[in-house]
Amino acid sequence: MNLSESRILITGANGMLAADVIDALRSAGATDLTLTDRDELDILDADAVAEAVAAADLVVNCAAYTAVDAAEAEEGVAFAINASGPANLAAACAASGARLVHISTDYVFDGHATEPYAEDAPMSPAGAYGRTKAAGETAVRESGADALILRTAYLYGRGGPCFPKTIAKAGKARGALTVVNDQIGQPTWTRDVGSFAVRLLEADAPAGTYHATSAGQCSWFDFAREIVASAGLGDIVAPIDSSGYASKAPRPAWSVLGHGASEALGIEGIADWRERWHAAADEVLEGVLD
Ligand SMILES: NC(=O)c1ccc[n+]([C@@H]2O[C@H](COP(=O)([O-])OP(=O)(O)OC[C@H]3O[C@@H](n4cnc5c(N)ncnc54)[C@H](OP(=O)(O)O)[C@@H]3O)[C@@H](O)[C@H]2O)c1
Repeated sequence: MNLSESRILITGANGMLAADVIDALRSAGATDLTLTDRDELDILDADAVAEAVAAADLVVNCAAYTAVDAAEAEEGVAFAINASGPANLAAACAASGARLVHISTDYVFDGHATEPYAEDAPMSPAGAYGRTKAAGETAVRESGADALILRTAYLYGRGGPCFPKTIAKAGKARGALTVVNDQIGQPTWTRDVGSFAVRLLEADAPAGTYHATSAGQCSWFDFAREIVASAGLGDIVAPIDSSGYASKAPRPAWSVLGHGASEALGIEGIADWRERWHAAADEVLEGVLD
């Protein structure tokens, strides 16, 4: 797809991921971008969605309900935004022929695996947020839309609250931190998701599911150690296991995603999580410790 000639609709444009997806599309030459968030285009409004999608060649759905713990108490609200909204977008794309990029998550898996989840591994969400995101994927797949479903995980970026900002601030304030060492995943920079999406679109990748995560794997503790080192705070993080950390929602213990689908197409994936964090740190932590 030639992005410089495409009419592109972004939903959830004020979110953390959207900021860098928009940047990546612009860097790839896109100029005709319609940026919408809830106030301009509520993805629950099927008529408004159909009208907006009819004027687009490409729709990138960055809108979501992302409060993992709160979703346990309000699964209906989360389901509307994470499943019914994507269903509206996908139906409109199927009707108009627009390409859809829909963002999903490692939380569609329960995290009991011992080898990386393939793109076509059966979904097995353990909590409410994951169930609503899995339902969104299913709705998109069943719509007949020309859709790329991109699962990402452990996301951080300049455009929103995220783990590195929380850890840097807490580390500075408290001087010592404990962080869970028994949840394993792939910290991923929003900029890398944006450029990976651009590579898939420019390559006219076939409709399907792709994993937009860094290579490698680590625990939150491993990641926190890198973050405090980048923030100049020294060696102040100690490991704990998650039994010592109460949270409302279950979290996947081991949600490493494989990248076979994009590798089979010869599309460059995202590099190792540590190397990418070092590239991202100055931008993501800018102003955080002021
Ligand atoms: N953050 C992570 O660690 C992570 C990890 C894996 C996957 N993901 C996925 O990545 C995607 C982007 O996440 P993010 O962290 O960038 O989320 P985010 O910062 O919470 O952004 C989501 C945006 O969607 C908007 N929105 C909510 N309901 C809407 C509606 N009905 N219509 C239109 N817009 C609506 C939100 O507005 P309000 O603020 O007004 O609600 C917000 O601006 C999501 O699909 C998420 O599931 C995130």
